[in-house]
Amino acid sequence: MSSICYKENMLMCEEVPFIDLAEEYGTPLYVYSKNQIIKNFRSLKAAFGESGHTICYALKANSNPAILKIFAEEGAGADIVSAGELYLALKAGFSPNKPAFAGVGKRDDEIEYALQKNIFAFNVESVQELQAISRLAMRANVRARISFRINPHIDAQSHPYITTGLHTNKFGIEDTQALEVYRYAATLPAIDIIGIHTHIGSQIIKVEPFVDTARSVAGLIGKLREAGIVIRHIDFGGGFGVKYFNALQHEALPIEDQAHAGIPSPADIIKAVLPILLETGCSVWIEPGRSLIADAGVFVTKVLYTKETSAKKFVVVDGAMNDLLRPSLYGAHHQIVPAVINTYEHRQVDVVGPICESGDFFAKDRMLAKVGPGEVLALLTAGAYGFVNTSNYNGRLRPAEVMVNGERVRVIRPRQTFEELI
Ligand code: LLP
Repeated sequence: MSSICYKENMLMCEEVPFIDLAEEYGTPLYVYSKNQIIKNFRSLKAAFGESGHTICYALKANSNPAILKIFAEEGAGADIVSAGELYLALKAGFSPNKPAFAGVGKRDDEIEYALQKNIFAFNVESVQELQAISRLAMRANVRARISFRINPHIDAQSHPYITTGLHTNKFGIEDTQALEVYRYAATLPAIDIIGIHTHIGSQIIKVEPFVDTARSVAGLIGKLREAGIVIRHIDFGGGFGVKYFNALQHEALPIEDQAHAGIPSPADIIKAVLPILLETGCSVWIEPGRSLIADAGVFVTKVLYTKETSAKKFVVVDGAMNDLLRPSLYGAHHQIVPAVINTYEHRQVDVVGPICESGDFFAKDRMLAKVGPGEVLALLTAGAYGFVNTSNYNGRLRPAEVMVNGERVRVIRPRQTFEELI
C-alpha cells in the first residue's frame, strides 16, 4: 500500500493528515513520504535479484538535499547532467566513484570539475564533446572514463518533449555511427572506453521500447567486440513510467481515464531486459528518476475562490504553474483530490492558478469533488519534476518542502522570503 492514502475521509502522508500539514506549514507546499521513497528504491533493487547492479538516482527529478541523502544512504549512484548536480550529489554523500555525467552540452569548466572529482564516467553525446574531454584530461594529466550515449532510433511512445531516442532528437550518437566513433575514441591517449549508455525517454509506459533498446545495445556490443573494442559496462538509462491517473481510489473520488491502468512497474521492466543485458557479460547500471520519487511527493494547494463564466466553472487555487509546471508544459495529468472528503458531489471544473496567463492551469474540464474557498487540494504523484521546475515568475515565492517520516515532519526547504526575490 502507498504511504499516501485515505484513512476514512482524511488524506494522510504516513501518519500525518494533509490538512494539518497545510495548516502548520502553509500552502502551496510540497510534501514527501520518506518511507515511500525507501520502498520505491528497495523494490527496484529487489528486481535485480542476485545480479550485480547499480541504481543511479537521476538528480534532475528532485534534488532536494534531504531527498538526495536518503538515496545516498541506500547506496545509490548518481546520474548527473551538470556541475551543479555533481556538487549536490557529493555534498549529499554519494560516493564519488558512482556519478555518471550525461548531457549534450557539457562546458569546459564542468568537465574539469568532473575530472578533478574523478567521476565514474562521462556519457558522451558527440565527437566534439569527446575531443573536449580528451583535451582537458590531457591538460590535467588524468585519464577520463567514457561511455557513448547511443541513440538507437527507438520510439519511447511518450510525450514528444521527453522522447530522446529518435534520430530527430538532439541526444546521443546515432547507432549507425557508433562503430566509427568508438574506433576514433580508442585512438585518444587520455580516454578509457568503458561502456555504452542509452536513455530513450521518460514516462515510458510500455515494456516493448525497453526490450527493443536492450536488444539493440546487446547487438551493438557484439559488433564492437568483433572490432576489438572492449565494452564492460551498460548504463541502460531511466524512463520508467508512473501511474498519474487513478493514483488513489476512494468511493467518493471520480474514476479517471484508464490510461495508466496496468502499466508495467519498474521491476517488470527490469525483469524483461535484464537477461538480454546480462547475456553481454557487462555490468548493468540504470538511472531512474521519476519512478523513485514521483509517487512519494504531493503538491498541496488551497482553494481561494470559485467562479463561473457562461462556458466554464473555475476553481482558483493558491498554487500556480511556477510551482508545478508539468500540466502547463506537457498537458500532464496529476490526479487532484481533497485533503478531506466532505462530499460525494462532483463538478466539472478547470483548476487554475493566480498567474496572468491562460496557460496557468492544473486541470481542464476535470471532474472534481465540489469544493469551496479554504479547502485544501492535493495534486498527487508530484514528487518528480515538480519542485525542480519552480520559478519566481510573477514575483511568487518558491513553495516550502516538508518530509514526513511516520508521525514526524521536517521542513526540508523553507518557503522563500520576499528578501530572496532580490
Ligand atoms: N537519464 C537521462 C540521461 C535523462 O535525461 C533522464 C531524464 C533520466 C535519466 C531520468 O529519467 P526518468 O527515470 O526520470 O524518466 N520534466 C519531464 C521529464 C524530463 C526527463 C529528462 N531526462 C517531466 O516532467 O515529465
